[in-house]
Amino acid sequence: MESVMNLSRFDVQKIRDQFPILTRSVKGHPLVYLDNAATSQKPKAVIDALTDYYTGYNANIHRGIHTLAEEATAAFERTRETVRSFIGASAVEEIIFTRGTTESINLVASSWGRTNLKAGDEIILSSLEHHSNIVPWHMIAEATGAKIKVVPINDEGEFQFDEFEKLLSAKTKIVSVVHASNALGVINPVKKIIDAAHRFGAVVLIDGAQSTVHLDIDVTELDCDFFAFSGHKVYGPTGAGVLYGRRTLLEAMPPFQGGGEMIREVTYEKTTYNDLPYKFEAGTPNIADTIALKAALDFVTETGKAAIRAHEDTLLEYATTELKKLPGLKIHGDVEKKVSVVSFTIEGIHPQDIGILLDNQGIAVRTGHHCAEPLMNRLCIPGTSRASFAMYNTLEEIDSLVRGLQKVIKMMR
Ligand code: ALA
Repeated sequence: MESVMNLSRFDVQKIRDQFPILTRSVKGHPLVYLDNAATSQKPKAVIDALTDYYTGYNANIHRGIHTLAEEATAAFERTRETVRSFIGASAVEEIIFTRGTTESINLVASSWGRTNLKAGDEIILSSLEHHSNIVPWHMIAEATGAKIKVVPINDEGEFQFDEFEKLLSAKTKIVSVVHASNALGVINPVKKIIDAAHRFGAVVLIDGAQSTVHLDIDVTELDCDFFAFSGHKVYGPTGAGVLYGRRTLLEAMPPFQGGGEMIREVTYEKTTYNDLPYKFEAGTPNIADTIALKAALDFVTETGKAAIRAHEDTLLEYATTELKKLPGLKIHGDVEKKVSVVSFTIEGIHPQDIGILLDNQGIAVRTGHHCAEPLMNRLCIPGTSRASFAMYNTLEEIDSLVRGLQKVIKMMR
């Protein structure tokens, strides 16, 4: 009852009107876009911000003294302040712009890892990680001799906290865990994880690629040391991401890349580095997309994160109930604490066939291992089909998904 009331207060049509792409059709059917965990669609405000920059004040930033450069610099730095406030950081110096979550994690693994890890040290990951929170740690473990330990999950994908506590020791130097699984939607108990890791003096990186769009994020309250997310999953453009880092850690870390902008002084003998956050932003950044990221975050804030969450929870609950009625369908990660992602397999039908046959009906889902091969191995499945919901999705679209899957089952059986 509560969730139905939430839905009626939330004007989905008004939201949908802000997303031009949602009116297109695919293969003769209205588009039903349920691949939001891969990337969300963009509201007009974001598209307009991109156009405004290129038509009105395209210039390089932090360098020029002319009007266009000043306007572009001011807009770019306004995004930094919006990000700071959006994730509850205390200072803009702690907000580093990157290409996305992957680059943010690589930055930490490379810069922090290179200076803080040695042979015998331990890096703890969870069994739910995306490749982007595994491979950079393999690379730095190989370079330093540090070891990777993995926290197990149960069959539904829930983080085993007791096992995590057993892995923690004075050897633990960093715990890098996903906030919400991209493949299953399961939410990790990050606050508890952070507090436990800190008791052993370890630093904690939270991969917020999937959580930032759905959950309230407050890095100060979480007390995490690093937090990474991608703008394109929060209705912003691709190529504009964020790394939050605790100031004391960032100050002690060497730069990730060398080049213009990150320096204070360069001679052929040596370089001194710029202050935070610029020390980590070598070269011309992704100016347009970073500026437009502000429009995306403002759009989410103005729509209201609580209202969006309530709407997405309603969609998740409805989809879970309706999909479970389909013969042979199993939901993986069918737990209470999850974001609006439904990952499923259907007995006897390959996930890829499901994806192709749904696309023929205009329905976009993602299929495969979702860049989380170790997780699929743990669940003993080659992959899943994944429907992921955003603020603009509707109950009718879930009905379309269910009807689409009924057709797939009929065709393939
Ligand atoms: N990591 C993105 C996904 O889960 C691409 O689809």
